[in-house]
Amino acid sequence: MTTTTSHSPAIAAKGLRKAYGDKTVLDGIDLAVPAGTVFSLLGPNGAGKTTAVKILSTLITADAGDLHVGGHDLATDPQAVRAAIGVTGQFSAVDRLITGEENMLLMADLHHLSRSEGRRTTAELLERFDLVEAAKKPASTYSGGMSRRLDIAMTLVGNPRIIFLDEPTTGLDPRSRHNMWGIIRELVSGGVTVFLTTQYLEEADELADRIAVLNDGKIAAEGSAGELKRLIPGGHVRLRFSDPAVYQSAAVALREVTRDDEALALQIPSDGSQRELRAILDWLDSAGIEADELTVHTPDLDDVFFALTGTANVPNQTTQPKETVR
Ligand SMILES: Nc1ncnc2c1ncn2[C@@H]1O[C@H](COP(=O)(O)OP(=O)(O)OP(=O)(O)O)[C@@H](O)[C@H]1O
Ligand SMILES: [Mg+2]
Repeated sequence: MTTTTSHSPAIAAKGLRKAYGDKTVLDGIDLAVPAGTVFSLLGPNGAGKTTAVKILSTLITADAGDLHVGGHDLATDPQAVRAAIGVTGQFSAVDRLITGEENMLLMADLHHLSRSEGRRTTAELLERFDLVEAAKKPASTYSGGMSRRLDIAMTLVGNPRIIFLDEPTTGLDPRSRHNMWGIIRELVSGGVTVFLTTQYLEEADELADRIAVLNDGKIAAEGSAGELKRLIPGGHVRLRFSDPAVYQSAAVALREVTRDDEALALQIPSDGSQRELRAILDWLDSAGIEADELTVHTPDLDDVFFALTGTANVPNQTTQPKETVR
């Protein structure tokens, strides 16, 4: 069996292309995901995230591209890729007619685990995913979140080194979502590589080492959450006052600021750098203004997403409320 050297990425794509009829979904995409990291693919509905996951996990074939997963060439050695990966699709692989435990044992069989090994792994994963109580009940009786957890537990049965998670936390409540994040972090600290698509920008921000934003068949931007946020404007310093009279005089004195009369808050555009902060503080001092609270805001990933994925898919960008312009 070929193994990856520490230098070659766990997942690598060059010039990945896929079209359905005359609709080009992926228009020559390059990706490189280092082993033991989380890579998150973001993009609006229909951008091609699931298509990318399906191609890289051998479920469908690309039209073109030099693609390697786990060091194996997808075009010539899909079997080896299949053995190295686990996939949780956007739509469930759970058989709803049998119990959660039976679903797990079935996966263990598919991975050729021995009976005892299969039972051990199943018990361990059911515990980890908080499914012990539900284990003997038919999956058809599970809530959406429970099925989702079972689905991901099933993905982990074969102890894959590379996992593809297509919207793993869609439909989960906040506690289950945080649990899932914990599990993903644990996997990564054990050296697993995670390729994650999500609609929750907060999730990408929380988990991903690198994030790529897919739009119009291309990668519109790629980088760490911090790098992406620095690409777009939206940072500001917010001054809050408790005394309306002090607020009024500050608003008059500062002029070029955005007012929020209800919250008694003023916003001054800023890139968040030390230099700009010092200039703002000096300016406030010289104007004799003393705010009760001063906070620095950097753009969040929602801002990045709206800026990069353009207006083509969003009829009216201004209808999307952003925290930074409240
Ligand atoms: N089997 C198929 N036949 C034809 N078109 C398809 C097929 N599968 C996907 N598409 C089209 O490819 C495009 C990308 O779909 P894909 O499911 O990859 O998007 P996505 O980014 O995962 O979207 P979502 O956020 O809604 O899950 C869409 O326009 C979709 O209609
Ligand atoms: Mg999808």
